[in-house]
Formats: sequence, C-alpha cells, structure tokens
Amino acid sequence: MSTTIRSARPGDWPALTELYNHYVLKTSITFDVEPYTVETRRPWFEQFAETGRYRLHVAERDGQIAGYAASSRFRPKRAYDTSVETSIYLQPDCHGQGIGTLLYTALFESLRGEDIHRALGGITLPNAASIALHRRFGFESTGVLHEVGRKLDRYWDVEWFEKAL
Ligand SMILES: CC(C)(COP(=O)(O)OP(=O)(O)OC[C@H]1O[C@@H](n2cnc3c(N)ncnc32)[C@H](O)[C@@H]1OP(=O)(O)O)[C@@H](O)C(=O)NCCC(=O)NCCS
Repeated sequence: MSTTIRSARPGDWPALTELYNHYVLKTSITFDVEPYTVETRRPWFEQFAETGRYRLHVAERDGQIAGYAASSRFRPKRAYDTSVETSIYLQPDCHGQGIGTLLYTALFESLRGEDIHRALGGITLPNAASIALHRRFGFESTGVLHEVGRKLDRYWDVEWFEKAL
C-alpha cells in the first residue's frame, strides 16, 4: 500500500480530529481529556502554514488519513520563538509500518532552513515506539518529570526529548 505525505488542508480536519480524539479518550499519550469537535480544534489547525516554523503534515493511504506530524510553538514567551514542540499520531491500525518515519522525515525536511534551534517532545511513559522514533531522528532525553499528569485514574511520568536543528 503506498503512503503519500503532504501538507494538511481544511478537508482533513474532521479525520484529524477523530484520530486525535481516540488518543484523548482512550490513552494517556496526550494529556487532553475532553474530545474535540472540528470547531473547538480550529485554533490548533489554524496555527499551521506552508512556510515558517509551524507545519502540519499528513500521511494519506488509500485516500484515508493514516496519521499526522506537527511542529507547534513550544511556550508563549518570546524568547522561546526558536523552539518548537513536535507531535505525531497515527491511526491505531497504522503503527509499526514506517509511516511515523515518513512523517517525521517530511516534517524535519520542511523545517530545514527555518529559524529553529531546538525541537522538543514530551512522551508519556511508557511508549517504546515513540521513544524509538524520536531517538532515530536524533532526539536525546533531557530527563523525566514524575507524575506530572493525572488521567485515567492515575499519575503519569513524562520524559522530555530535545533535538538540535
Ligand atoms: C509513535 C508512532 C508515531 C511511531 O510511528 P510508527 O510508524 O509506528 O514507527 P515506525 O514504524 O516508523 O518505526 C520507528 C521506530 O520505532 C520502532 N518501533 C515501532 N513500533 C515499536 C514498538 N511497538 N516498540 C518498540 N519500537 C517500536 C521501530 O522499530 C523504529 O525503530 P528503528 O528506527 O530503530 O528501527 C506511532 O506508533 C503512534 O502513532 N503511536 C501512538 C501515538 C503516539 O504514541 N504518538 C507519540 C506521542 S509522544
């Protein structure tokens, strides 16, 4: 099955919202706890552009959205401008087939030449697949924040990773 990576467009928003809501409702991978509608997710979609630091790429397979990778603002204060936070989510039946690697390859290729000094990723533990993917792309662990999120009736640790760009 061939997979195409391209920039997201508004027509993808319903599928991307549904994909993300799976992880919101069923997992601790994201610390969002309330599912989104396309409208409540709109500000998140609208941060992305075809140029600049904040990008949203999708993987399409057989006309369906298989996953996405994004670079977003890390924190609001101005001096953080040169740091982005990356995130990546695939449909549950699309894991372990190299699609995450394709998406991150496209994301970092598109960010080449942008004024970005660090990419950061926070991974709720455990998540062996995400850690392997981030290490493969040159992310290094900066440490673990212990029990910083409470979801699904327990506390979760988050390991942060950084990559020099
Ligand atoms: C994390 C995720 C994006 C990885 O994408 P993927 O397409 O499954 O990963 P790939 O097939 O491209 O493999 C990337 C690396 O991860 C490894 N990997 C994949 N699945 C793995 C698993 N279940 N356990 C351990 N390693 C795994 C691969 O062996 C590969 O490592 P290598 O480069 O050293 O060979 C995907 O599994 C996913 O969407 N998971 C749920 C959402 C999530 O956790 N997002 C990240 C939030 S921090």
